[in-house]
Amino acid sequence: MTIDDNDCVVRFENIGFRYGLGPEILRDISFTLAPGSLHFLTGSSGAGKSSLLKLIYLAAKPSRGLITLFGRDIATTPRRDLPALRRRVGVVFQEFRLLHHLSAFDNVALPLRVAGTRENDIRKHVAELLGWVGLENHMNARPTTLSGGQQQRVAIARAVIARPKLLLADEPTGNVDDRMALRLMHLFEELNKLGTTIVIATHNESLVKRLGRSCLRLEEGQLEIGASAPNRAAMAAASGAGGAAKQAVGAAAGRPRGHAV
Ligand SMILES: Nc1ncnc2c1ncn2[C@@H]1O[C@H](COP(=O)(O)OP(=O)(O)O)[C@@H](O)[C@H]1O
Ligand SMILES: [Mg+2]
Repeated sequence: MTIDDNDCVVRFENIGFRYGLGPEILRDISFTLAPGSLHFLTGSSGAGKSSLLKLIYLAAKPSRGLITLFGRDIATTPRRDLPALRRRVGVVFQEFRLLHHLSAFDNVALPLRVAGTRENDIRKHVAELLGWVGLENHMNARPTTLSGGQQQRVAIARAVIARPKLLLADEPTGNVDDRMALRLMHLFEELNKLGTTIVIATHNESLVKRLGRSCLRLEEGQLEIGASAPNRAAMAAASGAGGAAKQAVGAAAGRPRGHAV
């Protein structure tokens, strides 16, 4: 299968979506995400943010309309090619979905192990990233012994460690304080600078206002596209120890590319 990285990362054309025989919760949704762009996805609870992300990471099929992912029409792409597309997408699930029999370290290491990264490199990169998200003292902890905010940070580290082409983060700062939220946003910004296209679903309007960037807003099943002014001072304050976030997400540069999980 060939994938052209110059194509739109995601394209929705007149998408409608319903669960089973229920009402259509997404209606006539059309947008494109250019390679290397970063967007917030907002809307009140129940507006359909998680459902829209599910359509992008191929966990649900639209009731109507056309979705292309990395330039491939999903409806006509052979089933055997879908896992390769899916592996290019990193997801931070709203409910984390960590593997409870594995330590925080091993949860984060998993995408690199799947990609065949050397164990020495894994140790270094995972420790660095877990340090950046403030979990250096919890690397060996099982997820069930961690707080919601700590589990959320493990989930974020797992989603970004292998530098996916597309990162979908569903309410990734819902369980942490404002200071940590800004720190995590800085991590996303650094990943974005390295070329990852990012969508961050959030109902935290103040965070969106503080950081600016493109904003996709869901309301009554429909999507409005806008932007708010960026606040670089807030981002600089969040960066804390200078280039550390950059180093944390850039660390895995030596591993094989195109195998993000
Ligand atoms: N698995 C499901 N089955 C049926 N309805 C669902 C399911 N998941 C979500 N919904 C409904 O779809 C709507 C959008 O939900 P969701 O996408 O989770 O919104 P958000 O993430 O913006 O809070 C809500 O009305 C919700 O109740
Ligand atoms: Mg949701």
